[in-house]
Amino acid sequence: MSKSCKFGIKCSYAGASVQDGSGPATIDVVADIKSERVVVLGGNGFVGSAICKAAVSKGVEVISLSRSGRPTYSASWVDQVNWISGDVFYANWDEVLVGATAVVSTLGGFGSEEQMQRINGEANVVAVNAAKDFGIPKFILISVHDYNLPSFLLQSGYFTGKRKAESEVLSKYPNSGVVLRPGLIYGKRRVDGVEIPLDLIGAPLERILQAVENFTKPLSSLPASDLLLASPVNVDDVAFAVINAVTDDDFFGIFTIDQIKEAAAKVKV
Ligand SMILES: NC(=O)c1ccc[n+]([C@@H]2O[C@H](COP(=O)([O-])OP(=O)(O)OC[C@H]3O[C@@H](n4cnc5c(N)ncnc54)[C@H](OP(=O)(O)O)[C@@H]3O)[C@@H](O)[C@H]2O)c1
Repeated sequence: MSKSCKFGIKCSYAGASVQDGSGPATIDVVADIKSERVVVLGGNGFVGSAICKAAVSKGVEVISLSRSGRPTYSASWVDQVNWISGDVFYANWDEVLVGATAVVSTLGGFGSEEQMQRINGEANVVAVNAAKDFGIPKFILISVHDYNLPSFLLQSGYFTGKRKAESEVLSKYPNSGVVLRPGLIYGKRRVDGVEIPLDLIGAPLERILQAVENFTKPLSSLPASDLLLASPVNVDDVAFAVINAVTDDDFFGIFTIDQIKEAAAKVKV
């Protein structure tokens, strides 16, 4: 019998055997300890650093790849991450991916049309294919909610890049790929060494929207209504949803804002 019995650990029980009259029953326990090794692309960014921190807190080995490498601030979890400096378009994947059990991509951002296509779309396509070529079993992409926008507004390089990346993940990893689609993510964002407390707005807004959810639900079919109604999500919830994805092999596909929060609740303590 095989049973998931603890975070990251699978136990097999070989059944109890009673030996006639020769003492107590014995149970053989074989512990099959699954050690996770996660590569976070953009591990020093806003979302990436929360993912690295959460992974370290759960005993997961973490490697980060980003152009600027190790962050300049100090924290105990920072010392437990292997920080590799490199551009995803020119990465030495041998150095980054060997032995990884999952790749998490936080690559994405704004800029000109061309820049948005490149970082949201092409960069992730490159990463998915590198992971696939190296036989990494799982790929997790931080994408974005579509805010219920009419299709002509979803034509910007940001959204088309994201959807291209999603398709690549889901086609190359049909049975293990994970696409998280958060809306606004709040928490403490560091910009040039200064902490911007986005949670001062994000946390109360999340609570207000939850409180009025029953009244606002009928409006959610209106185009673009989610620009006002989509719940913000705490950066730590995104991070713990990623940890859930890393450790739960039954967790794959596309996940909405509410599903991200549910997944996070499963692993948060
Ligand atoms: N923040 C939000 O409210 C929000 C909401 C929904 C979805 N998202 C999505 O969540 C993801 C993370 O967002 P974020 O706010 O954490 O962004 P961020 O702080 O700008 O982080 C992006 C990370 O990617 C790295 N990076 C960029 N270009 C790279 C390249 N060519 N090669 C290697 N690394 C590269 C950056 O490091 P270097 O610059 O040092 O390379 C940084 O670590 C994005 O995909 C974003 O679209 C964010």
